[in-house]
Amino acid sequence: MLSKKIQLGLVKQLNRELESSLLYLSMGSWVERKGYDGICEFLYDHSNEERMHMLKLIRYLNRRGGEVTLDKILIENITYPSLKELFLKLFEHEKKISDEINLLVEISLREKDFFTYNFLQWYVEEQTEEEAVSKMILDKIELIGEDKGGLYFFDKDMKNFHKNKKF
Ligand code: FEO
Repeated sequence: MLSKKIQLGLVKQLNRELESSLLYLSMGSWVERKGYDGICEFLYDHSNEERMHMLKLIRYLNRRGGEVTLDKILIENITYPSLKELFLKLFEHEKKISDEINLLVEISLREKDFFTYNFLQWYVEEQTEEEAVSKMILDKIELIGEDKGGLYFFDKDMKNFHKNKKF
C-alpha cells in the first residue's frame, strides 16, 4: 500500500508529465506554423513521450492500489521571440522536472518504499537523457546563430531525432 506522501507525490508527478506533454504539443504547433518541419516532428514526438511517462505513472499507481487524479491543465498558446527562447524554456522545464523527480526519490527513501524507489530509477535515467538532449539542442542553436543555411540543415536533422537517438 502506498503511503499518503508517496500517493501525493506520484499524482503530482503524473500531472507534471501531462503538463510537459501539452507544453511540447503547443511548442510543436508554434514551430509548425513557422515552417520548421523537423523541429516540429521532434516536439510532437517529445510530447508523445511525455504522455507515455504519465501513463507509466498511472499504471504504477493503479497496480499499487493508489488513486489517480488528473488536473485540469491549461497551456496558454505561448509565442516565442525565437527558437533559442523556446528551447531555453524547454531546458528550464526539464531541469525543474529533474528536481521534482529527485525530491520524489528522496521521499521514497524516507518512507522506506523501495518498490517506488526502484520504479523511479527509470525516471532518473530518463531525466539525465532529457536534460542532456535539450542542452545539446540549445548549444547547436547557439552555434548556428543567424546562419539561415545552418538552421535549414538543423531543422532537417531534427526530423528523425527520436528515431535515431542513441541514448
Ligand atoms: Fe517526462 Fe521530460 O520529463
